[in-house]
Amino acid sequence: MAFHHKIVFIASEIYPFSKTGGLGDVLGALPLTLRKMGADVAVITPFYGRLSTGEFKLRLITSRLPVGYPWAPITAEIYMADYHGLPVYFIQRGEYFDRRFYYNTHEGDYFDNCERFIFFCRACLEWARRMDMAPRLIHVHDWQAALVPAFMHFWRGIDPFWRDTKTMLTIHNLAFQGRFASRLFADSGLPAESWGMDGVEFWGDFNLLKAGIAYSDLVTTVSPTYAREILTTEFGCGLEGILSKRRASLRGILNGADYSVWDPGNDRYLPCTYSPDDLTGKANCKESLLAELDMDPRLGDRPILGFIGRLRRQKGIDLLIDILPQLMEMDLGVVVLGEGNLEFEAQLMELMETYPGKLAVRVGYTEDLAHRIQAASDVFLMPSRYEPCGLTQIYALRFGTPPVATNLGGLSDTIVAYPHPECNGFTFPEATADAFLQSIRQAVDVFDRPAEWELIRQRAMHTDYSWERSAAHYLEVYRELGIDV
Ligand code: ADP
Ligand code: GLC
Repeated sequence: MAFHHKIVFIASEIYPFSKTGGLGDVLGALPLTLRKMGADVAVITPFYGRLSTGEFKLRLITSRLPVGYPWAPITAEIYMADYHGLPVYFIQRGEYFDRRFYYNTHEGDYFDNCERFIFFCRACLEWARRMDMAPRLIHVHDWQAALVPAFMHFWRGIDPFWRDTKTMLTIHNLAFQGRFASRLFADSGLPAESWGMDGVEFWGDFNLLKAGIAYSDLVTTVSPTYAREILTTEFGCGLEGILSKRRASLRGILNGADYSVWDPGNDRYLPCTYSPDDLTGKANCKESLLAELDMDPRLGDRPILGFIGRLRRQKGIDLLIDILPQLMEMDLGVVVLGEGNLEFEAQLMELMETYPGKLAVRVGYTEDLAHRIQAASDVFLMPSRYEPCGLTQIYALRFGTPPVATNLGGLSDTIVAYPHPECNGFTFPEATADAFLQSIRQAVDVFDRPAEWELIRQRAMHTDYSWERSAAHYLEVYRELGIDV
């Protein structure tokens, strides 16, 4: 069988097969949308032990692909799935990917993450090297795939197969860089000249994301505002220097939402569906979630504030914890779904015992509950300290759950803030507990003026962030690189 694809995506997650956050959602939608728009795209990703294959059959393509890493050649198996017409290749090597989690346990990162993802990058390129023709573009995502552009940079001159292949890196979160001890560089197979300020070296360490920034033909990130923010010391996570050097090749392209998965009109996880024209279903979803989470049924008429996300400082969950006692003095309910930092998890569970019936906390990663909270809540909370794009606020808009969010990154690119005549949500200028509380109070005041609230909710539900628009921007950028798509 002949394998050839003009554009190959390489990423460590793809929904519905694997997901820890927004990266998985993006990979589950963008390549497929590009394909529907006529681009010849395929994806390569790891075969995790916890892969959800669901209705999709995986077919073994190669059982012994030699990968020259780390010291002697080892092999990988390649599987393939047809995801609604999108070819997805899975790199399998049990030793690296057959684990309980993807990148880390509660105790911290897996000790061999560097080795795991060097292996992944090299295996992806070995697999692409076996295709009948080289891809015109390899589009990689985040640190786990970011060594690929560095390899390509050096291999292009040596191997004619790669001569015309361009590379592009999309940064979904600059704080996760894949930073490792310098001794691990030697095993990567990169030439010594890449070890330096303009290459993969970062304060004496080996930095995989920096490799992608330094060596990709183009670098993008997931919103225009974040693309500007990461050039500053406040948001640059130490990489603002190299990013500024690459400024002319840096673009911000806003993510979209996959409305075939995130739309209250056809959501398979909801007890009732609803649309902007008939919101009865939303009230039913609320009633049913209050019962599911053992909350006071009288809250049916009062605002429910929902939070869904990784329990980390990025998401400002500590700000929510700080103001919860004050929120609990108000006539409203709060629902939190998340997992992450053990201390935040414990603090939230303790608060739930103090405020039974008014505060519901569910620790864990539960896809279906995330949908039910989006639908049942009245207000969506997102007090992030930084947010490259943020998808949950985009989903919340569609679910008629106006967000209260910090005015930064993708949040400011997706929310039109009250009291703007076209507003669909609320924002506050900086991630502090006071500003957050004040913004929630403002939202609750408006909630108590039903006619005004309804206008905001309608505008939220009609806000359109479908992937087609974002995918069209990606196509433009691919063309900038000379790729005829
Ligand atoms: P990030 O990628 O920074 O985590 P995004 O807003 O881009 O943030 O995407 C988060 C995705 O992960 C959304 O699909 C959200 O519903 C999902 N998610 C986050 N935490 C949980 C959880 N505890 N249970 C289920 N889904 C979650
Ligand atoms: C990252 C970011 C998030 C973004 C997602 C998808 O996880 O934290 O803001 O929406 O990637 O691009």
